[in-house]
Amino acid sequence: MSFSVNVLAKIAIELQSGIGHQDRFQRLITTLRQVLDCDASALLRYETRQFIPLAIDGLASDVLGRRFALEAHPRLEAIARAGDVVRFPADSDLPDPYDGLIPGQETLKVHACIGLPLFAGQNLIGALTLDGLVPDQFDTFSDEELRLIAALTAGAFNNALLIAQLENQNILPAAAPAFEKAAHTEMIGLSVGMTQLKKEIEIVAASDLNVLIGGETGTGKELVAQAIHQGSARSANPLIYLNCAALPESVAESELFGHVKGAFTGAISHRSGKFEMADKGTLFLDEIGELSLALQAKLLRVLQYGDIQRVGDDRSLRVDVRVLAATNRDLREEVLAGRFRADLYHRLSVFPLLVPPLRERGEDVILLAGYFCEQCRVRLGLTRVALSQRAHALLLTYAWPGNVRELEHAIHRAIILARAERPGDNIVLEAHHIAQQGAPERPVQESQSVAPTPNLRHATEDFQRTVIHQALTQNGHNWAASARALDIDVANLHRLAKRLGVKP
Ligand SMILES: Nc1ncnc2c1ncn2[C@@H]1O[C@H](COP(=O)(O)OP(=O)(O)OP(=O)(O)O)[C@@H](O)[C@H]1O
Ligand SMILES: [Mg+2]
Repeated sequence: MSFSVNVLAKIAIELQSGIGHQDRFQRLITTLRQVLDCDASALLRYETRQFIPLAIDGLASDVLGRRFALEAHPRLEAIARAGDVVRFPADSDLPDPYDGLIPGQETLKVHACIGLPLFAGQNLIGALTLDGLVPDQFDTFSDEELRLIAALTAGAFNNALLIAQLENQNILPAAAPAFEKAAHTEMIGLSVGMTQLKKEIEIVAASDLNVLIGGETGTGKELVAQAIHQGSARSANPLIYLNCAALPESVAESELFGHVKGAFTGAISHRSGKFEMADKGTLFLDEIGELSLALQAKLLRVLQYGDIQRVGDDRSLRVDVRVLAATNRDLREEVLAGRFRADLYHRLSVFPLLVPPLRERGEDVILLAGYFCEQCRVRLGLTRVALSQRAHALLLTYAWPGNVRELEHAIHRAIILARAERPGDNIVLEAHHIAQQGAPERPVQESQSVAPTPNLRHATEDFQRTVIHQALTQNGHNWAASARALDIDVANLHRLAKRLGVKP
């Protein structure tokens, strides 16, 4: 079989229809999977030596959050280098990035695999990947046909990129700039809240306003500060970090403003403060809510007059610094309670940003989980790290009081646990790997709209009980069969059931 005119027409039409780029690409990928009869298809964007999935079909939803670095993915590197259709032999020993990520086929490896690099002129802008579980599945397609599909897609894709650039829209996930640790700065998330936040970041970055970044612990305030700096006209100059919580009163002033030799005992030489270091750049004052009232007054002075005085020096020094401040406290309340100066609060909060808690970001939890799985996979040299269906469900039901940081740690620990349970480099995270962990010892933050977060262990034990009950019911209370269905060792199931009180 080769493609009919109808097939090509259908692809061309999908590329013109749809509301917005995301929708159009999703339609394209779904159509390709149907008409080419593959088990999985994906459209990836290429940037800064990594492939970023934009639309997927037939793959686990956490793939959208994964970032595939060329260094870690020989197959994708081959596609990036090829300049033309790449057909991988069914027995290729290059691992496929989607191995084990086709739902329902977690234990199967991808067999047939084709990569189509997408170009704009000489520049690689992305790739289409087609995967199948049957080795000779794609043999009937000719290279000419595949090239035609690649050319159609590349044209539409390049237009979308250009339009997004013109509109300066943040619709396509932006890879981090080439400088600095690229992999660490991207903000993963497609939820309404995160899309809105990214737009606000873009707007405020271009202004030179001071920004107050609020949000619960672990929501990503530091990433927001980095994104603002990187998106600003100051990005070529330094972003200086200062944690106000870790600032003993005795050295705080010198940390901020510097000191001259002999200013105090121990000031054996001249030292620049953070404000001087951040000149023409950005100063990020983390945990600003912890700053003493005395230092708040000094900070206010700098913001008002743009000059600083080093400790022990009468002269003042002009500095050109943009201040970004972050806090997980409600600063308005702090002002009312007399712990934070109202005038400083107003100076800082000209443009307040609020980073939404993870529990309000819906499916972003899955994308982030995929992102952290892939990061860990590379760091630990594993072949694959996939999430089971039940793990997906658990991730979505838990409230994550520690937000993204808690999720990141939960995934790391789950991988270590899973590997200890079943050594090897092929890991599937089950709900109990994520659940076996105690909640971090920190008080749950109360919020008006959300029910108090249950303790992680209790919540996950409840979940485990439900799942075990369900498995037993479905398997006529046969423990061996239930253990198989749950994919755990039968002895472990007995132990777990006993501990959870499912079994007397
Ligand atoms: N959207 C995101 N995409 C990818 N990683 C994220 C995202 N948000 C947060 N992270 C990661 O989660 C961790 C916590 O983020 P960060 O340190 O910025 O939180 P925070 O709001 O400053 O927390 P705290 O108030 O406790 O200081 C970091 O490792 C960060 O890289
Ligand atoms: Mg922080």
